[in-house]
Amino acid sequence: MTGRVPVFAIDGPSGAGKGTVSRAIARRLDWHFLDSGAIYRAVAFAASRDGVAPEDEASVVALAKNIELQFSSAEIACIKLDGVEVTDQLQTETCGNIASRIAVLPAVRLALLQKQRDFRRLPGLVADGRDMGTIVFPDAQYKVFLTASAAVRAERRYKQLIEKGLDVNLTSLTREIEERDRRDQSRTEAPLRVAEGSRLIDSSAMSISEVIETCLSLLTTA
Ligand code: DC
Repeated sequence: MTGRVPVFAIDGPSGAGKGTVSRAIARRLDWHFLDSGAIYRAVAFAASRDGVAPEDEASVVALAKNIELQFSSAEIACIKLDGVEVTDQLQTETCGNIASRIAVLPAVRLALLQKQRDFRRLPGLVADGRDMGTIVFPDAQYKVFLTASAAVRAERRYKQLIEKGLDVNLTSLTREIEERDRRDQSRTEAPLRVAEGSRLIDSSAMSISEVIETCLSLLTTA
């Protein structure tokens, strides 16, 4: 049955605007929304909380299987981990980096596969991540690979963090983004790559609304 539920898969590196774009598309279509990165971040957060090393595959898998995650709404305005709200903590660069390190572990990815597929419900799902169109929903009806240059992505992230009042450094942020890209693209398990049948969009010189409209045009041209 789930095969018939439409999926709009949006993959790409961090900072390409996937989060904003995919939430906006879910809202416009009134579809469910999966922030798969938040799931990896939640496991990373639980590992730090419990003193588990990101390389300790067996313990991280146990966490991935046992944590209880609650997403407050289709837009995931609030995320609870084992009953405690962790929305803001999941957004930190530290948490993103640990998430990227645990994401290289094949057994962790496997443990999270069904949790992600369970989001596929009528009337449809917009799924945001790195392997939505390749591994999690290879039969997705609509696929986009959204990217932008590392410099543009670092600058966008820098502005977001400064607006939140955080003390960040653009040079180290650029370095972290490049390092995370390298790790996400070079891992053997589900590396970040353009899925077959995916529309490649480089948002470096585009506004968010242009990207949203380009994505939505796939629904009428597919
Ligand atoms: O999208 P994000 O920055 O919240 O993701 C955090 C990390 O989680 C990212 O660096 C790699 C990993 N991730 C993944 O491997 N597969 C996904 N589908 C989503 C995220």
